[in-house]
Amino acid sequence: MSEDNKDITILAIESSCDETSAAVLRNTRVLSNYIAGQKVHEKYGGVVPELASRAHMQNILPVVDAAIKDAGISKSDLDAIAYTRGPGLMGALLVGVSFAKSMAQALDIPLIEVNHMRAHVLAHFLDNNAENYVPPTCPFLCLTISGGHTQIVYVKSPLDMEVIGSTIDDAAGEAFDKSAKLLGLPYPGGPMIDKLAKEGNSGAYNFPKPKVDDYDYSFSGFKTSVLRFVEKNPEAVKNNLPDICASIQSTLVDYLLEKFFEAAKDMGINQLAIAGGVSANSEVRAKLAKAGEKNNWKVFIPKFEFCTDNAAMIGASAYFQYQERDFGSLDANAIARLKL
Ligand code: KG4
Ligand code: ZN
Repeated sequence: MSEDNKDITILAIESSCDETSAAVLRNTRVLSNYIAGQKVHEKYGGVVPELASRAHMQNILPVVDAAIKDAGISKSDLDAIAYTRGPGLMGALLVGVSFAKSMAQALDIPLIEVNHMRAHVLAHFLDNNAENYVPPTCPFLCLTISGGHTQIVYVKSPLDMEVIGSTIDDAAGEAFDKSAKLLGLPYPGGPMIDKLAKEGNSGAYNFPKPKVDDYDYSFSGFKTSVLRFVEKNPEAVKNNLPDICASIQSTLVDYLLEKFFEAAKDMGINQLAIAGGVSANSEVRAKLAKAGEKNNWKVFIPKFEFCTDNAAMIGASAYFQYQERDFGSLDANAIARLKL
């Protein structure tokens, strides 16, 4: 609720990459969350920015319409419109920015500019994560692992976050996707590796863990080691994908979590959360839950639909920004490389 105890109803729009999504939130409760994926990229083995922008143009109106209808509200109930300002693909972001601005102006309500990476973290404040859900209390530590980013974030408050470690090259999701591509798997490869790994033996093959100082990560060397493996072992790639996927996945997951756990121990933090598309990975989820039990940490694992890109998380950030009257301007532009 807002300072004056009024319920806040927000329409949130997400269009930073290849998902067009719209959600309606009442405070931190999700009333609707529509996500339209874009199949068009599959045959290219990755997101084609120009095609993403065009698909957003086609999707945005029906997706927003469906979100409003599904929430059981009318446009006049809305208190604000939130949109992803960045980071993301410029053309894709512009579709959401233009749409949100026009709608906010037509309804004469405030506009809220949301940082996509902060929103991934703030998905942990959505009531719908579980029945009788209790969100983390600040400060906590969040490992945000997505297709474009890998960050260990120190969350001092919902609106005050600091990146204490990040990748110096590829993102964790890219490491999954590029490995999958080298193995001949379709895009996006992360979920495919996860699926195949379930039937494989993670000790079958050895992939080296990258070495980087502090709480930073690197994945470009890992991709090269998968490339070398594929070149040297064509028979295994043909006949034994489950073992290869299980070995790749466990190396990546252990690497991601080891640094995260080290940071938590060094900082004396006992609440650990994961966010972003790769947090949908079953091994990440299971290993974090297990470490939580062992170390007496409280762990926060988002509901699947709030891991990968979605507008509900944009609404969560907008809810906190609304409390501070952090409203956007009609002059604001998208920022492709917006920092956290
Ligand atoms: O957060 P997200 O939806 O989009 C970005 O902001 O980048 O993350 C997408 C990434 C992709 O790299 C995808 O392969 C990965 O999340 N991903 C997974 C799984 N589900 C999605 N990676 C590993 N295992 C999964 N189950
Ligand atoms: Zn994302």
